[in-house]
Amino acid sequence: MSERFDSLFLAESPDSHESYRTMMQAAMDVLISRFASSAAPYSGVNPSRISLALRERPVCPETGAGMEEILDHVGRAILQHSAVVTHPACIAHLQCPPLNAALAAEVLISATNQSLDSWDQSMAATMLEQRMIAWLCGLVGYGEEADGVFTSGGSQSNFMGLLLARDHYAMAQWGWNVQKCGLPADAARMRVLCSEHAHFTVKQALALLGLGERAVVPVETDDRHRLRSDALEQAMTDLQQSGLLPFVLVATAGTTDFGSIDPLPEMAEIARRHQLWLHVDAAYGGALALSDRHASLLKGWEQADSIAVDFHKMFYQPISCGSFLLKDKRHFRYIRLMADYLNPQQDEEDGVPNLVTKSLQTTRRFDALKLYVSLQHLGRRSFGDMIDRTIMTAMETARFIRQDAALELMGEPILNAVVFRYVPTRNPDWSDEINSQIRARLLAEGTAVLARTKVDGRTCLKMTLLNPRTTPAHTGQILLKAKEIGEALETEYTRGKEIVL
Ligand SMILES: Cc1ncc(COP(=O)(O)O)c(C=O)c1O
Repeated sequence: MSERFDSLFLAESPDSHESYRTMMQAAMDVLISRFASSAAPYSGVNPSRISLALRERPVCPETGAGMEEILDHVGRAILQHSAVVTHPACIAHLQCPPLNAALAAEVLISATNQSLDSWDQSMAATMLEQRMIAWLCGLVGYGEEADGVFTSGGSQSNFMGLLLARDHYAMAQWGWNVQKCGLPADAARMRVLCSEHAHFTVKQALALLGLGERAVVPVETDDRHRLRSDALEQAMTDLQQSGLLPFVLVATAGTTDFGSIDPLPEMAEIARRHQLWLHVDAAYGGALALSDRHASLLKGWEQADSIAVDFHKMFYQPISCGSFLLKDKRHFRYIRLMADYLNPQQDEEDGVPNLVTKSLQTTRRFDALKLYVSLQHLGRRSFGDMIDRTIMTAMETARFIRQDAALELMGEPILNAVVFRYVPTRNPDWSDEINSQIRARLLAEGTAVLARTKVDGRTCLKMTLLNPRTTPAHTGQILLKAKEIGEALETEYTRGKEIVL
């Protein structure tokens, strides 16, 4: 009777191969037809139209349907109204176009379904992840004592850094084991220093770690949005005078809005002097290590106690793919747990590597493979060339903005993010509204997907130029269009008309 299920799974029978091939071919056809018709980065439709299209089919029918019919529905109702991340004008967030090589590897990752928690579920996969981590540690400039683990991305990696820093401090300061005993009595006095532009996951992590958002002390930045050493020293003094306990410094190598990189050698020196754990959030900027031209911007990160590097940003990997790197692997002991069914003590004694001891996840994807295949296929230089190209496009785009009186550049780009705003000539009070509307109209027309953010309380527009296919000609066109919309809105406002999307 079990033959009934044979063709549902990829296994040894020719039937199962045939079924798999047919489905993959059909899926690929739908995908390719989607990309072939992607003249715009988004269809422009609003959420209610998508909801309506989805209601075409029940979520869980009593009996199934053919894949062709299902994929046709998926193509029309879902893919057709998805952001086209490879489009040169899809430049809102740190959402990269994924490399074809990585997409091919994704097929292998999913089909083999290895789980990186225990060696007996992922034999070769475990060994490859370890090899990739060793390579990454070498790229950073870490020594032999370093180790790391693949993660779901920067949020998880930042959380891990702060968790280990918290537990290490409690152990070093009070001989307190947080894993066994919960938070120490003085936890409410523990503080984290970071730039005012650090990613919000620092705050989120502190809330989840039981130290509260108030544990985060944001430090002022300079005119290039980098953490200021003098302000950091002052913050340290203030905290100590108030009887508070700073224990970790988070430096950012690539802030989300401006791509700014905190002065890492200075941060490392200050952290060392004050015995702070240094965590570098290089989720965005870590890929600079592959660029001959820009790798030196990361100088100093090798002194960090822990580092977050994402691959689903400037390493062009499909979501999700990130890593957490630790200078001294012994610190993984703060999260080590043993489960008899998964990673028994005996395995450890026998030298069987069960990576669950280094991770907050149990079941975990073999994401290392897609990065491996991509690096093998492109080689470091091609990665470096792509990164260099995007930074050049950002610089050129910034130059256009600087030259145009109708636009204001909100900061010199360091990586490939460009923040700017349209400056209304008739009434400066319209600025926030008009910039919001410019973004909404560009999206609704399917012209460009831009992000919005606030700088000093003002609504601004952002281009995150991760796509090496996006050229200054594309960004120039988008700026022109943005200006056109801005001017039209000013005219409408002047006439006192309501703005209708
Ligand atoms: C600087 C920085 N750190 C951390 C994160 C969070 O990373 P993820 O979305 O991969 O969890 C982001 C996301 O954009 C980021 O820009």
